[in-house]
Parts: sequence; C-alpha cells; structure tokens
Amino acid sequence: MKILVVHGPNLNLLGTRETDVYGEQTLDDVNAMLSSEAEKLGAEIRTMQSNSEGALIDAIQDARGWADAIIINPGAYTHTSIALRDAVVAVDLPVIEVHLSNVHAREDFRRHSYIAPVAVGQIVGFGADSYRLALLAALSLERSS
Ligand code: DQA
Repeated sequence: MKILVVHGPNLNLLGTRETDVYGEQTLDDVNAMLSSEAEKLGAEIRTMQSNSEGALIDAIQDARGWADAIIINPGAYTHTSIALRDAVVAVDLPVIEVHLSNVHAREDFRRHSYIAPVAVGQIVGFGADSYRLALLAALSLERSS
C-alpha cells in the first residue's frame, strides 16, 4: 500500500512551535517515525509539507497517479480551505484527517473542519501518535476493501 502524508502550514515548525500544544518532536522526527512504522507494516509512504495552499492541492492531485490513500494534517487550512476540500473530493482516494492537538477542546474556530465531511475519518489529540494511528487506519481500510 502506498500512502501520501501531507503536512500543512506551520507544521515545519514542529518542535519549536507552541510545544505545550504540539509537543517537542520535529517534523523530521514525525516523518522518521512514520517511515519506520510503515516499513514494519509493509507500506510505502511519501511525505510532503508546504505552507502554501496551492502546493498542498498539487500534491493531493498528484497522488491520484500513485497513492492508495492520503493522510493529511491540513493545519489551519482545515478550518478555512474549500479548495483543499474540493481537491480531496476530486481525487477520490480515501483520506484520513489528522491533528496533533485535540481541535475539539480548543478555540471554537478549530472545531469546524472543511475536510472532515469528505474524509473517511479524523484522528485528533494524540500528538505524533495521531499520525501513527492514521497509518494503521489506512492499512485497515486496504484490508477491508
Ligand atoms: C493542527 C490544529 C490546527 O487548528 C492548527 O491550525 C495547526 C495544527 C494540529 O495538528 O493540531 O496548525 O492541525
């Protein structure tokens, strides 16, 4: 199984950004953990991060050519981007939305996701483990299809 992992805006600052909320692990740490988990589970992952909405959309569109599923943390675009949601719908791949923090326990504006209604599911609040759980969820989707 091939999985695209998409990290949205400001996630390049993990490890230094609001560490009380997002933890001490850097994005490289998260990606390394995911690569090693994926290898153990026999999956292939490709990771990308961008602060730009257009680049995220390009990556999602490109996944149509090679990926079986997408794991995405859209960062703040979760709460604002109809364009990202349209891209998710357009590629017709299973998408799992991930957040490090529990967005439902924070400011009201973080409770609304444009992506959640078009995702298979949402995993939030487990720090870097949210991504690991999403990987397991993606693999279980493949098994049940
Ligand atoms: C986040 C939650 C978003 O609300 C926020 O804008 C982020 C990170 C998370 O992983 O918890 O940038 O997606």
